[in-house]
Amino acid sequence: MPPQLKTSVFCGVSVDGFLARPNHTFDFLDTPGAGPHGFEEHWRSIDVVVIGRKTFEVVLGFQENWAYGKKPVVVLSSHRQDLSRVKDGVVEQMSGEPAEIVAQLAKRGFKHAYVDGGITIQRFLAAGLIDRMVVTRVPVLIGEGIPLFGPVPRDVNLRHIATRTYSGGLVQSEYEIGSDPRKRARKKGAAATSSRKKRRK
Ligand SMILES: NC(=O)c1ccc[n+]([C@@H]2O[C@H](COP(=O)([O-])OP(=O)(O)OC[C@H]3O[C@@H](n4cnc5c(N)ncnc54)[C@H](OP(=O)(O)O)[C@@H]3O)[C@@H](O)[C@H]2O)c1
Repeated sequence: MPPQLKTSVFCGVSVDGFLARPNHTFDFLDTPGAGPHGFEEHWRSIDVVVIGRKTFEVVLGFQENWAYGKKPVVVLSSHRQDLSRVKDGVVEQMSGEPAEIVAQLAKRGFKHAYVDGGITIQRFLAAGLIDRMVVTRVPVLIGEGIPLFGPVPRDVNLRHIATRTYSGGLVQSEYEIGSDPRKRARKKGAAATSSRKKRRK
C-alpha cells in the first residue's frame, strides 16, 4: 500500500463563515473570555503544515517570531517565494495539484498535514483530499471577508463527529470527510438485509 498522509483543517471563522476580513486582519477571532479549544492537541498531532501564499504573507507580517516554530511548513504558490524572509523556520515551497502535493509529502514520510488558508483548503476539499475538519465559530458576523468555503465540483458529504461549546460562545464542530454517508447507509441496509436472509434460512 502506498504511504498515507492524513490531512486536517483546524480553523476559526465568524458565524457568517469568514476566516479574515477583506484586508486579511482577524481581530474578530479574539473572543473575550474564550479559553483553550483544542488547538494545542491538534498542533501536537501534525507533523507538517501546508499553507497558501496569502496566509504565508500574513504570518510573515506578525511582529513576533515565526509562528510555526520548527515544524516543517510548505508554502503553496505558483510564483517563486523568497523564503529567506523566514528566520528560524523550516520552510519550503511547493505547487501543483493537491494530489501531487499529498503524494510527495506522503512519500517523504509525513503522516499528518495541517492544511490552512481559504483558497488552499477549498482546493484540497474540491480534490477530495481533506480527511478531517475542525471549524470553530466565533460569535460575530462580519458581513464580508475571506471565506472558508467556496464552490465545490460536487457535494462534499461530511460525517459529523462532535460539536463542542467553549467559554466565550465558541462553537466547534468536527467532521470527517471521505466516506459518503449515503453509501454507508446503503451498505448498512444491505448488511441488514443479508443477515435477515441468513436468519430465515
Ligand atoms: N481564521 C483562521 O483560522 C485562518 C486560518 C488560515 C488563514 N486565515 C486567513 O485567510 C487568509 C488567506 O486565505 P486566502 O483564501 O486568501 O488564501 P490562501 O489559501 O492562504 O492562499 C492562496 C494562494 O495559495 C497558493 N496556492 C494554493 N493552493 C495552491 C496549489 N495547489 N499550488 C500552487 N499554489 C497554490 C496560490 O498562490 P499564488 O497566487 O502565489 O500562486 C493562491 O493564490 C489570510 O487573511 C489569513 O490570515 C485565517
